[in-house]
Amino acid sequence: VESLTRWEWRALEGGINLADGHARQLLGGHEEEIVEKLPGIYRDSYIISQREAERRFLMAYWRLVGLAKTDNDQRALFHYSSSLSIDSVAKFLRAAGYLTLLVSPTFDNIPAILRRNGVCIEPVMEDELAEISSTRLQSVDGAHPRAIFLVSPNNPTGFLLSKEQLQKICIQCRENKSLLVVDNSFRAFRPDQSYDDLTQITASGCSFISIEDTGKIFSTSDIKVGFTVSSHDVYAGLAAVTEEIMLNVSPFALLLLEAVANLLTLSGGLAKIRALVNANRASLERALFDTPLRLCRSGSPLGIGWAALPDDWRARSFVIWLAERDFGILPGNPFFWHDISLGDHYVRIALMREQTYFERAAIRLRELVTTYDPHTVGT
Ligand SMILES: Cc1ncc(COP(=O)(O)O)c(C=O)c1O
Repeated sequence: VESLTRWEWRALEGGINLADGHARQLLGGHEEEIVEKLPGIYRDSYIISQREAERRFLMAYWRLVGLAKTDNDQRALFHYSSSLSIDSVAKFLRAAGYLTLLVSPTFDNIPAILRRNGVCIEPVMEDELAEISSTRLQSVDGAHPRAIFLVSPNNPTGFLLSKEQLQKICIQCRENKSLLVVDNSFRAFRPDQSYDDLTQITASGCSFISIEDTGKIFSTSDIKVGFTVSSHDVYAGLAAVTEEIMLNVSPFALLLLEAVANLLTLSGGLAKIRALVNANRASLERALFDTPLRLCRSGSPLGIGWAALPDDWRARSFVIWLAERDFGILPGNPFFWHDISLGDHYVRIALMREQTYFERAAIRLRELVTTYDPHTVGT
């Protein structure tokens, strides 16, 4: 199967793009303010120390997403994107011999990066996570410790562990000497920003790596950072891997992202972004009303819609047919990385777009969906 990134590239080439989940909406009315600040940020980026740029960015980021600053900050490792953070984690898992349980469905570049780095992965389904059996987290031979790699909230479903469920997994990891890895790229979409999962994970005493990302929420023309924070015991190994590919991310990027985070915090920006996502989801629901496409998990907080197709439609054929009409969305198959047939009847529709652009796109999607005939196209 083609990777999701390849499908996303098709949509980047032209036409209507509801394929990638990057933040492509405007900055909630703050565009001018940011543009005015750019010369100063550029000048500052030449005189500030790298550590100070990192410290200021971290402070602004944690404040925006409602998390307490902890001594985890001393163990932050920065990358140009969260895919590179995942790549470093994968190299670390491989070097330490971890056998890794990975949530399914999820974005396909995570299993791809893990496999490319030679990490053995096994699927764990979302509904297993609520009551995961301890044996799945135990090393079978003592030589290969276990890791569990979660995405929270998960892409594409929006699935989010409750505080109690996360606590259980942390304790099981601690007791079995397993490693908890959580990709928190979509954390800003969580409905409850007062719940500090990172403090909870740190306090549980388990080994952990948390992956963070600005790219899914800050629409800064794809200027973004990915970074990891981790427990003491894994930090040195992860730092060694990171040092092979990174010296530092641009202080200009860090200061720009700091400025955006501060503006969003002061203006209730996350609430505005969530309101945009809700408005776009509602217009998608209206557009798809009475058509064969059905939006699933309408309560999902993500800037992403996940829709089910009728039994006689196939995701790949439908998405190709749409692409031929210059309309880009993603097929569900690659998300089910351990068994792509499970995604045959799903498609993913990005919601992080300007509202007027999205409304027009949703109307166009309705026109296309109502004329689509699966029996006249190949499979
Ligand atoms: C959960 C998750 N983590 C990481 C990434 C990678 O993000 P980037 O392309 O910015 O590296 C993605 C991409 O969509 C994702 O869904």
